[in-house]
Amino acid sequence: MSAESNHWSSYWESGSITSLPQDFQDNYDGEIGAFWESQFESLNSNSIILDLCTGNGAIALLAQSFSLKFQKEFNVIGVDAATINTAAIVKNKPHLSELLNRVNFISNCRVEDIDLTSESVDLITSQYGIEYCDWKLVAERVFDLLKPNGEFAFISHAQSTDIRKTMCEEQRQYMFLNELKIFTLVNSYYNHKKSFGLTLKKLKSAETKLQLAQKSISSQLYASVLQFLQYILQLDKARMTTEKRQIVSFCEQHVFAYKRLEDILNVSEKIASVPNWYQVFESAGLSLIASGDVLQGGLHKAGVYYQFKKKDDR
Ligand SMILES: C[S@@+](CC[C@H](N)C(=O)[O-])C[C@H]1O[C@@H](n2cnc3c(N)ncnc32)[C@H](O)[C@@H]1O
Repeated sequence: MSAESNHWSSYWESGSITSLPQDFQDNYDGEIGAFWESQFESLNSNSIILDLCTGNGAIALLAQSFSLKFQKEFNVIGVDAATINTAAIVKNKPHLSELLNRVNFISNCRVEDIDLTSESVDLITSQYGIEYCDWKLVAERVFDLLKPNGEFAFISHAQSTDIRKTMCEEQRQYMFLNELKIFTLVNSYYNHKKSFGLTLKKLKSAETKLQLAQKSISSQLYASVLQFLQYILQLDKARMTTEKRQIVSFCEQHVFAYKRLEDILNVSEKIASVPNWYQVFESAGLSLIASGDVLQGGLHKAGVYYQFKKKDDR
């Protein structure tokens, strides 16, 4: 597992199926689910589907579910740079065990480095994924892997979604927590860089500031960190040692959550600054067949879809 993927690996280890668990608990449904079904409909039996930046395999699982329902015998591969542990998914969602066994996960692998046979894939998919990669390298890889007449469909993050607004607010809250240095203080204590007394004094002062902030915005994130602080502040030195694993893990989870937020927001900004970024796939030789907004619940813009074809010019 590369250090740059740790924040995603840690998330997928929690067993969530999608990267938006509040909105999609079991898997993408509604308009997003319908978009993916429409991509699978035109495929023949035994088709090969490759899902890029698959995470815990949301789209790969939708493909296998469709395949089972319509006896299509799809062969589905999911690739991600992070570590994907199917045992952790099954622990969280036991009912998905059979479907998961039907997906061939290639984890700890950047899409740019996929080592599969040229012209071997019928459909390449990606949900909130491809935009995180090196666009030019990935476009070349996608073109090479697709069979002639094969298709590439993806949904990317969209600008100005409600999801994005919520994330920006969460980012502001994390920035305030960073200013308070709560997680850094705890780490410095365990790394023997700060004394017990000084650490508690600084954490106490952070607690006071966080309580004040909580009064003005009432945030779930602040509430959970306040609860954590109140817990730590009543521990003695010996208990700080026995409870080390849970305390460090709490801090690590938040540091990773902040990194994921930054990833998502940075990517959204990158797309916004190059609105025609998808043309990189045309430059690599693919033809754009369709694109448009994906609304969720008929109202909220959840993403932008693109469909490309590798036209058979032979
Ligand atoms: C927002 S998540 C989306 C995951 C999944 N498609 C979903 O919708 O639930 C983005 C994923 O892209 C992966 N990723 C980022 N850059 C990558 C790369 N260059 N190659 C492979 N995976 C990458 C991350 O590890 C993460 O799992």
